[in-house]
Amino acid sequence: MDIGEVPERKAMRRADAPGKAILFGEHAVLYGAPAIAIAVDLRASFSAVESDRWRLNGEDFKPVENPYLSPLISEFGDFESPLSLTIESDIPIAAGLGSSAALSVASALAISSHSQSPEKLARAAHRAEALAQGGRASPTDTSTSALGGAVIVAPSIIKSLEHQWSIDMDGPDGTKHWDVHSLPIPESLAEVPIVIGYTGIPSSTREMVEGVAARMSSVSFRLSMDDVSNLARSSIDLLKTGNPSLIGNEMIRCHDLLREIGVSSPELDNLIDAALPFSYGAKLTGAGGGGCIIALATDPNACAAAIIEAGGIPFITSFAQRGVQLTIT
Ligand code: PMV
Repeated sequence: MDIGEVPERKAMRRADAPGKAILFGEHAVLYGAPAIAIAVDLRASFSAVESDRWRLNGEDFKPVENPYLSPLISEFGDFESPLSLTIESDIPIAAGLGSSAALSVASALAISSHSQSPEKLARAAHRAEALAQGGRASPTDTSTSALGGAVIVAPSIIKSLEHQWSIDMDGPDGTKHWDVHSLPIPESLAEVPIVIGYTGIPSSTREMVEGVAARMSSVSFRLSMDDVSNLARSSIDLLKTGNPSLIGNEMIRCHDLLREIGVSSPELDNLIDAALPFSYGAKLTGAGGGGCIIALATDPNACAAAIIEAGGIPFITSFAQRGVQLTIT
C-alpha cells in the first residue's frame, strides 16, 4: 500500500436479538395448544466483518464444522470473502430464555449482505432449532426473537390478533401446523419490571421434550397436559387486558400445572417461593428441568435479593418491544 493511502475499511454488520420467556403453554404448544411468549431485554448479538480468513471470537473457525451456523451460512452468507464473527450475549445458555434462537436470528441477519424479513430469519432459525431438538420444536422462541413484543403461536389463525405467518413442519409425532401472531405488549404490562431467576443448572430442551413425548401415552398425563393447554387458551384475552395482577395469578397456576406434568425441579420451585412475595406472579419458563423462572416483579430489587438468598442468579430486565435489528458501522 502506498504511503498515505487509506486502507479500505470494511463495514461491520452487527445484529442483535432479544431472548424470550414463555408466559403460558410451554410443552403444550407441541400438542395443539397456543403458547404466549414475550421478548425480554436480555439480548444476543452477532457481528460480522469481511476478513482474510474465517474467525469466531478471534480464533480460527471452520463454518462447515459448526452444526448451528453452517446451514445459516449456506442460506444467508452471500459475502465473497470469509468473515470474522463475534458473538456477545447477555442470555444464559440452555436456560429457557431462547439463547440459541436469539443467536440464530441475529447471525442469519449479520452474515447476509442485505436486509432480511423477520419471517425469513425466524423460519431459518426454527429449522435450526428443530434439528437440535430432534424434530420437536415449536416456532415460539425464534418468532419472538425475530418480532419482539408478545408472540402467540397457535394451531390455527386467531382473528382478533395480527397474523404474521404459518409454519408446517414434519416431526416424530407427525406434521405440525402453527400460526404465528404478534401483539404489542400493553403499556400497563410493559412498565412492570421482569426479574429472571437462573437456577445455575442448564437444561437440555431436547431431553425435556423427549421426556414429555414419552409420557404422552399415559391418559392421566394427557389430562394434566389438557389443563396446561386450557390455561394457555384462556390467557390470550388476559394478556390483551395488560392487568399484571390477573396475569401474575394465572402464571402461578401455570407453574403448578407444569410441576404436575413433571417439568419443574426443586431448585425452580425454591426460586418461585423466594420471588413470589415481591411479585404479581412467577413461573418457570421454557422446557424446565433446570434453567430459569420469570417473575413479574412488584419490588425488583427485593425480588432479586430473595433469589440470591435462595441460591439463584437474578437478572433484572424488562419487556422488549424490539425484535432483531441491524446496525452497520
Ligand atoms: O427452553 P426453551 O427456551 O428451549 O423453550 C422450550 C419450549 C418448549 O415448548 C418446551 C419447546 C418448544 O419448542 O416450544
